[in-house]
Amino acid sequence: MNDIILGIESSCDDTSAAVIRDGVLLSNVVASQSVHEAYGGVVPELASRAHQQNIVPVVSEAIKRAGIDRHDLSAVAFTRGPGLMGSLLVGVSFAKGLALSLGIPTIDVNHLQAHVLAHFIKDDEERRQPTFPFLCLLVSGGNSQIIVVKDFDDMEVIGQTIDDAAGEAIDKCSKVMGLGYPGGPIIDKLARQGDATRFQFAKPHIPGYDYSFSGLKTSFLYSLRKWVADDPDFIEKNKADLAASLEKTIVDILMSKLLKAAKDLKIRQVAVAGGVSANTGLRDAFRDYSDKYGWEIYIPKFSYTTDNAAMVAITGYHKYLKGDFCDIAAPAYSRTTIK
Ligand code: KG4
Repeated sequence: MNDIILGIESSCDDTSAAVIRDGVLLSNVVASQSVHEAYGGVVPELASRAHQQNIVPVVSEAIKRAGIDRHDLSAVAFTRGPGLMGSLLVGVSFAKGLALSLGIPTIDVNHLQAHVLAHFIKDDEERRQPTFPFLCLLVSGGNSQIIVVKDFDDMEVIGQTIDDAAGEAIDKCSKVMGLGYPGGPIIDKLARQGDATRFQFAKPHIPGYDYSFSGLKTSFLYSLRKWVADDPDFIEKNKADLAASLEKTIVDILMSKLLKAAKDLKIRQVAVAGGVSANTGLRDAFRDYSDKYGWEIYIPKFSYTTDNAAMVAITGYHKYLKGDFCDIAAPAYSRTTIK
């Protein structure tokens, strides 16, 4: 066949390009931006500037590592949204320019859909893939959603956060503890050494399958202020227990709604995706639920949890097979849910 798709991802602070041939990954190059660490969060203006610097070398490297020539490409898939507008514009404009110059079609990809379809990336490692329908918990810095995945292009969001995302809550709590950015990996590492039952924080009471994390964030902040007022070294002395207790609270919140959805809909194939799916406590909880409730679980490889172009390329590949191309005038969108 030789259907070769180039995927481009630039929705936030990672510039990434990947090449997929007939559904099999040939290369996946990611340039992460360390410039944001000093600010404790992604600075949109700096992110778009760094994408400008990275996009040509990253795409060239992906094509080189794939062992192909750019003239071999069948289509260019790109993340159209949601994400930071300035960041998206770099990848979207580059993808269109490249496709125009090669006379090949462009394929627009929804970033959230791509996170879910990361489970279908085929590389040199043997991995089971889910069959439709399955449930996917999508948890990242910008989203916390429960999705019923009915087909590659048919996904229904049945629950989502009404305020902060899980990753955002972890990052903000890490920031108030004076830890680095992004907080997720730091909290994860600390939590492994801590007692998760030591502190209790507020859990939300939201109907249905929706989530809320802003109350937890406030409860964490106010508790910390009180404890630090009594003992200025409180955080330093207790950071592992704080991290473990915070992580457990977030994992419990995520899993209880997911369990409710799986029971109500009688779906036993359950996947997790997005940056927070790298979390050890969440991965362990998936394994526990699999043992307890007979779930068939799908946990992505670490390199496909955070933003990457392999997931964009595989989503693009499935759209390519259906002839689902986009108009060259299609603009980027900063906010939307899965279509
Ligand atoms: O999907 P992602 O790379 O970016 C988007 O938000 O689109 O997710 C980033 C989020 C951040 O909030 C980061 O702190 C979190 O994923 N994260 C983790 C871990 N690794 C990354 N959260 C908990 N534990 C981790 N090991």
